[in-house]
Parts: sequence; C-alpha cells; structure tokens
Amino acid sequence: MTDAAIVANGLTRRFGDLVAVNDVDLEIAHGQIYGFLGPNGSGKTTLIRMLCGLLTPSAGTARALDFQLPEQAEPLRRRIGYMTQKFSLFDDLSCKENLNFLARIYGLDNSQRQMRITTLLNQFNLEPLSSRQAGAMSGGQRQRLALAAATLHEPELLFLDEPTSAVDPQNRRDFWETLFDLSEAGTTLLVSTHYMDEAERCHQLAILDNGNLKTQGVPADLMGALKGRVIDVQGDGLRAVRQQLMTSNEVLSAAQQGDRLRVLLKKPVQDIGVFKQWLPGDQTLHCEPAKATLEDVFVETTQADETPC
Ligand SMILES: Nc1ncnc2c1ncn2[C@@H]1O[C@H](COP(=O)(O)OP(=O)(O)OP(=O)(O)O)[C@@H](O)[C@H]1O
Ligand SMILES: [Mg+2]
Repeated sequence: MTDAAIVANGLTRRFGDLVAVNDVDLEIAHGQIYGFLGPNGSGKTTLIRMLCGLLTPSAGTARALDFQLPEQAEPLRRRIGYMTQKFSLFDDLSCKENLNFLARIYGLDNSQRQMRITTLLNQFNLEPLSSRQAGAMSGGQRQRLALAAATLHEPELLFLDEPTSAVDPQNRRDFWETLFDLSEAGTTLLVSTHYMDEAERCHQLAILDNGNLKTQGVPADLMGALKGRVIDVQGDGLRAVRQQLMTSNEVLSAAQQGDRLRVLLKKPVQDIGVFKQWLPGDQTLHCEPAKATLEDVFVETTQADETPC
C-alpha cells in the first residue's frame, strides 16, 4: 500500500455542457482529515461521489485505498463509509433498527451486530435514543446517527458531505472530537463544509470554485500566505469608507464587522501609510494590520478573478 489514501489526476466530470469538476489533482495521506471548502455548486459533492466510486468520471483517473476507479468501485465500497449531504436513513425506523438494518447489509453476523451496535450507541451518545424513530430525532441527533451508520463496518476511508449542516456549535465541537478520534485510530476522512471553523480544523484543506481546485494546503499556511493583506479600519462613516475603498484597484474586498471594516488587499502593503492614501480625506480613521482568517483565504480564492462590487 502507498502512503496516499486517495490520489486523483485530472479528475473531471461533465453534465452536458456543464463542467462540474474540472481537471482536479489530489493526494490525501492516510489518517488525515482533509477538507473541501467551496461555494454552492462548486463541485464538492460531485468530486466526493467520484472518489467513492459512485459516479464515473468524464476524464482523469482516481485511486482510493489502492483500488482503481471506477473499475474497482465494488470492492472499494466495502472499505469506505459515506455520509451523504442529505439524511439518507429511514425516518420510520428507530435509531437501533436503522443500525441493525445496515449491519445486515454489511453482512455482520448476529453477535458481531449486537456488539458493534452497542459500541456505536455508546460512542455516539445515542443509547438514550436507541428506540426513538429517526424522523423524530433532532438535527444534531440525526447527524450523530448518520455518522454512526457510516462507521458501522469500521471503514478505513470516510467521506462526510457537509456532516454538520444542522448542528449547533457545541454539538459540532463534539462531532469534530469524534472525527479526530477516528483519525487517530487511522481512518482517513474527507469532509466537505461551509463552516470556516470546521475547515480550520482539517489537517489539509482544498478550496473549490466553479469545479476547479483553486488552492490546497495546511489551513495555517493558507492564512499565513495572506500576511500584510488584511487591514482593520475603525472610526466614523465606515459605510462611505467602504464605498470609496471598493472603487480602488488595490482592494479585493471590504466587509464590515461590528464597528470595524475588514479590508482585504490584492497585494501586501508593508507601510500602513500607503494604505491610508486610498481612504477618503478623513485621517481620523484608525487602521491596523490584522491576521488573516480562513474567511479571507476563501474570499481571496473565490473572488480573485472578479471585479469588486
Ligand atoms: N446529476 C447531475 N446532473 C446535472 N448537473 C449536476 C448533477 N449533479 C450536480 N450537478 C451540477 O454540478 C455542479 C456542482 O454540483 P455539486 O453538487 O457537486 O456542488 P456542491 O459544491 O456540492 O454544492 P453545495 O455546496 O450546494 O452542496 C452544480 O452546478 C450542479 O447543478
Ligand atoms: Mg454538495
């Protein structure tokens, strides 16, 4: 077995004229949590489905756990777990019945089934809910059940497509602690998300836009690469300041956050005095360099080619 759990080269998927995923190269190391971040329709789900062997690429090659795709999709399927973007368990079965049903599909015998389900109900804090119908569970409880179901057969590779979309911050934190437990035990996880805090937790992150993989790397490195390009402005009349800044060729975006304006520049400035020249005449504004966040990276990556509006 090689070091990489997933390798893709030139992976492409077209739907008619639409290129949903365009020429994507990817390498994901064993045991890592690898994130996909990208606007709606950027190709995250399509890419995941190709890497699971559920969707045939229009071009390019992919290998997951040393299975060549799409040819070896069938044997791969037994070794992976896939938590889909939409809840895909049975609403009218109880929590335990859903797990039982899936365990039979995975071919676990009676005693394996009982043991594994008891472990999972415990691990995902679902014991008190074991006889509740899935349809009557809260969003966060359903996500926990879906993750338990995806890990039933102890897969080496786990695909999670926006797993926490209906989950409150505390439950999201707990959910991510579980993901790190799985990662430490050797599972490779590929997680798509719209949440910056989740993306920041990943070992590695890829940002997709319009089907293209625009950037990838360690989240801290991606943020570090924007050094000198984020400036906080405080003072009066921030709406007018913003309007003025957005006409400047130097500015990629300006977004108000409470009593501050967060400005992302196209190029780094070493001297804040240079930046101040782009502001309206009023020099009472307080400007200071700020640390880039992942949201800045996201904006930079997905808006770099667009004209400010
Ligand atoms: N089966 C399909 N037939 C036609 N077009 C499709 C199909 N599946 C996806 N698409 C299109 O491909 C593009 C990428 O879709 P995809 O679902 O991969 O995006 P996504 O990044 O997962 O979006 P979201 O964040 O909203 O889940 C979209 O324009 C979508 O409409
Ligand atoms: Mg999606």
